[in-house]
Amino acid sequence: MRIYKAKNEEEMSRKAANIISAQIILKPDSVLGLATGSTPIGTYRQLIEWYEKGDLDFSQVTAVNLDEYQGLSAEHEQSYAYFMRKNLFDHVNIRADHTYIENGVAEDAAAECRRYTDLIKSLGGIDLQLLGIGANAHIGFNEPGEALEKDTHLVKLSERTIQANARFFTDADAVPKYAFTMGIKAIMQARCIVLLANGEAKADAMYECICGHITAMAPASLLQLHNNVFVVADEAALSKVEADADVEIL
Ligand code: PGA
Repeated sequence: MRIYKAKNEEEMSRKAANIISAQIILKPDSVLGLATGSTPIGTYRQLIEWYEKGDLDFSQVTAVNLDEYQGLSAEHEQSYAYFMRKNLFDHVNIRADHTYIENGVAEDAAAECRRYTDLIKSLGGIDLQLLGIGANAHIGFNEPGEALEKDTHLVKLSERTIQANARFFTDADAVPKYAFTMGIKAIMQARCIVLLANGEAKADAMYECICGHITAMAPASLLQLHNNVFVVADEAALSKVEADADVEIL
């Protein structure tokens, strides 16, 4: 893991956007695994700015998103399909038919999971996977538990995740209880992973991710086994990691 400390969210976003830009410039037809949530918004904003300046070209890029709420259509304002259009896709020259996400309203959930797993395989896997981290150390919606699912699956969201995401809905009751998520295998097989975190609320999860035992109880801890991970996080998110003398922070 290469761990980069940023002064604040703005610097975190710029550093992350730099890594993603380098990926697109070196391999214009990259398959990017993308994430939603508050954390990557600034990174997407920076990528849009560089696109508008003429420094980035998304015309050959393919995007596969991590997860989607079950029961929300792509038109629903809280769906992750909508989030991606609003925060990135509508502002750059990515082809709409090169952007993929699970179908939240698929009638046959098992078939939808198989379709998405096969799709990622047919794309040749993911070149760069962008990740946020849950306060419970989830990645995508791979929630802590006794075991982790390898492939795309439907997951019952933990109470902690529902509470954390309630801020986007009228109240916690309005948050969907289930979501589709990419499994741990497609994430771990990504050729490069960029994990972002900011704020003190992520400090414990970052400690588990970087310094803790490798355990399904902290899904992000599996990233310690991947040999090409960039962690880009602000001082608050790294505050507990910094106390560990074995960790090198750049
Ligand atoms: P956040 O979510 O970026 O909104 O904090 C991250 C996550 O739950 O993976």
